[in-house]
Amino acid sequence: MMLAADAVFSTDLPLPGRRQGKVRDVYGLPGRTPPALLVVATDRVSAFDVVMPTPMPGKGRLLTQVSLGWFHWLREQRLVADHVLSTDVPAECLQDRALAASLAGRVMQCRAARVIPIECVARGYLAGSGWAEYQRHGTACGIALPKGLRQCDQLPEPIFTPATKAEEGHDENISPTQAQESLERDPVWSRFGGRALAQRLERITIDLYARAAAHARSRGVILADTKFEFGLALDGQGQPTDELLIVDEVLTPDSSRYWPADRYEPGRDQPSFDKQVLRNWLLDEVAAGRWNKEAPGPALPESVVELTLERYREIARILT
Ligand SMILES: Nc1ncnc2c1ncn2[C@@H]1O[C@H](COP(=O)(O)OP(=O)(O)O)[C@@H](O)[C@H]1O
Ligand SMILES: [Mg+2]
Repeated sequence: MMLAADAVFSTDLPLPGRRQGKVRDVYGLPGRTPPALLVVATDRVSAFDVVMPTPMPGKGRLLTQVSLGWFHWLREQRLVADHVLSTDVPAECLQDRALAASLAGRVMQCRAARVIPIECVARGYLAGSGWAEYQRHGTACGIALPKGLRQCDQLPEPIFTPATKAEEGHDENISPTQAQESLERDPVWSRFGGRALAQRLERITIDLYARAAAHARSRGVILADTKFEFGLALDGQGQPTDELLIVDEVLTPDSSRYWPADRYEPGRDQPSFDKQVLRNWLLDEVAAGRWNKEAPGPALPESVVELTLERYREIARILT
């Protein structure tokens, strides 16, 4: 039996079409009009694109809470429609009460979409892969930046730094022009505007980032960067329509870099509200020759799980 307080590492629900992402399990919800999916945020954690064998109990609920808070905020912005239909445990899963309890708070019923294969990243600060590229070439995703920027410096204005959505392995940064070209080239996406569709994603991404960053800043946190995914809503025949939706999760500590504003100091790495504790521990494992950044990841010590969860709890408390 599974209690609500137990960790949910993976699910096997009485629903068709199970797909497993690194963190979420996704199922079809049969018989719904328009077509719908169930997205379950499990307690899996990934780092360096590898799913760890040890779950973080409650992480899926915290992510769902943060994401839903932002989806609510997003509707008020009236910039783009979103995929959220409801947070109810679907009828198909209610018979097994222990199962229903384990799902409560970590599921979203969503409009099914054809996901556009571009990770839409906006950055207002120079960190992560943006900082790495800047040090080598003075650019981020090919976008020229002023000289003399320090690690984690604020950029003159937010930039769009898209990445490919790799089925397996690591996403790859591409330039905004390459993103436009890839949608223009692909017949599925060129039908829906191709280049113009990519430009629309860029505008929405930058606009949402700027507004969300201002909102987060009013709560004492810097939103350094974030990633959105978009899709085209499916019709009753499962075909994409021209209705653009923002999908997946929004503005969670898994998809965003959040820094406490009162400790912000450019020129160094920032303390952050995400998996930094986990990443640092893993890097020590790599340095000690006990892990090579390939799957499977190492089992995590209790202290790493608890300290990481504590960061997730804190950002959820601040943002919601
Ligand atoms: N409304 C939607 N329609 C179709 N697919 C979606 C929708 N929302 C999210 N997804 C997909 O569901 C998956 C969620 O699982 P996740 O663990 O985030 O995967 P990943 O390992 O790719 O990050 C992603 O592939 C995401 O693109
Ligand atoms: Mg994801």
